[in-house]
Amino acid sequence: MDQTLTIDGIDLSPPAAGRLLPPGAFTSPAVFDVEMRRIFARSWVHVADLAELRAPGDFVTATIGATPVVIVHGHDGVVRGFVNACRHRGATVAEGRGNCGHQLRCPYHAWSYGTDGRLIGLPSREEFRGCDLDAMSLVAIRTATAGPMVFGCLDAAAPPFEVWGGELVAALERARGAEMELAFEYTYDVEVNWKVYVENGLEGYHVAIVHDVLNDFVETKSARHFFEPWASYTHAFIKPDWGIHLSGVR
Ligand code: FES
Repeated sequence: MDQTLTIDGIDLSPPAAGRLLPPGAFTSPAVFDVEMRRIFARSWVHVADLAELRAPGDFVTATIGATPVVIVHGHDGVVRGFVNACRHRGATVAEGRGNCGHQLRCPYHAWSYGTDGRLIGLPSREEFRGCDLDAMSLVAIRTATAGPMVFGCLDAAAPPFEVWGGELVAALERARGAEMELAFEYTYDVEVNWKVYVENGLEGYHVAIVHDVLNDFVETKSARHFFEPWASYTHAFIKPDWGIHLSGVR
């Protein structure tokens, strides 16, 4: 099969063993744009954690590729995902995370959507007599959960999450992942192309040098790497005496 691919004059053919993609693959806006549409918009992406969505009305915003989405715990108990764009003129409906009560209210002209995504209110309704308002629900996206994580997918043709997730789903079940609580969270802005960060996660060669704390609490020799058709994972055991310390971290 011919795997030649050139974008923005950059040869993106799979490199020979031991070789890297050309530098432009990591800096070209045109390559990045194609990646957002052809990779992320067709993939299942981690968009929220169940710990953030415990109560009806809890919501979390995220992006899948370049598309903003919002994940909401409905008042019927169902966690759903929607494109985070108002059906009126496309304004962003929800910002950040929090609890929206019984409705997500667009800040532009105050169209309101129930936690199931249905349009439930709008000012000057009589002005819209010619519109099919029943068809103006927020656009739903696919969602799935694995352990403590919620994934979203924009592409109806992507494989079911149970297939796409591969070993991850079984590994989180074995680890009783659905019972996990978020102990602490750090957010970093890392000014690199996403591929640099992913590649960093694919090798443990640097761990002993860079992450001395990890050496303290992870059984590095227990690490297992899985390379699957749609994703790759690494899991390792935490040393038993570190469970106590981590449970107290905030
Ligand atoms: S764009 Fe949301 S109400 Fe107008």
